Amino acid sequence: MLGKPRQRVFEGFAREHHSIKYISLSARLAEGETEKGWLVTNPHHVTSLVRTIFVHRIKTAKKGGTMSQKIAIVYHSETGNTRAMADMVRQGCMEIKGVEVKCMPVADIDQAYIEQSKAIIFGSPVYAGTCSWQIKKYFDIDAKNIGGKIGGVFVSQNSPGGGGCFAEMVVIASMLVHGMLAYSGGANNKPYVHFGAVATESREKDHNKEFCLQLGRNIASKVVELFGT
Ligand SMILES: Cc1cc2nc3c(=O)[nH]c(=O)nc-3n(C[C@H](O)[C@H](O)[C@H](O)COP(=O)(O)O)c2cc1C
Repeated sequence: MLGKPRQRVFEGFAREHHSIKYISLSARLAEGETEKGWLVTNPHHVTSLVRTIFVHRIKTAKKGGTMSQKIAIVYHSETGNTRAMADMVRQGCMEIKGVEVKCMPVADIDQAYIEQSKAIIFGSPVYAGTCSWQIKKYFDIDAKNIGGKIGGVFVSQNSPGGGGCFAEMVVIASMLVHGMLAYSGGANNKPYVHFGAVATESREKDHNKEFCLQLGRNIASKVVELFGT
């Protein structure tokens, strides 16, 4: 039984962090933390759960500050354009304090990292007006435990009107089917990222880079906003 002052601190903490503590909880379970307090599911045990989170936060702060949230970038690339975009999106994410980012080819997925990630950003070349079959295969066959995570997308196309936006919508549809929370940031920050970042022709062009950086910033900011650091 908690004394009254401590109880008030914990209740305040619970209010302040609202539902995010539950999301953090499942992520930490995925990371393999097995402290008793994490396993609480009964509402009567919420106080004990909040106390465990509270203690964890204090320990994290003592260790030197904040906890970083993971973001995974999963891409397919044959000739390097989409891979270059992946690196630019990563740079954009890294501008936001409190995140760590890992790029991985879709053929070489780090499943443990995926499961710990709060967001996954997918990159594909445009093939015949849609995403590549390699990315579609990931969603159709290989994807595991990606539900509930934020999802973003970027594509590389050869020519304006080459199907980039449609390719992105196909990826977004797959995200939704898996229960992901599709997000781009939209027209809130410039340059506007509509469905996701689209690079056309040369990957070296500045406007292509700016869209990729902005997508990364948008996704990373949302991760920090929703899940904290
Ligand atoms: C099989 C195939 C189909 C393609 N279809 C399109 C297309 O419909 N529209 C387009 O703009 N570019 C198309 N492209 C060009 C690629 O999307 C473009 O070169 C892209 O930048 C390649 O990405 P990567 O370097 O990451 O492999 C196609 C390329 C291939 C190989």
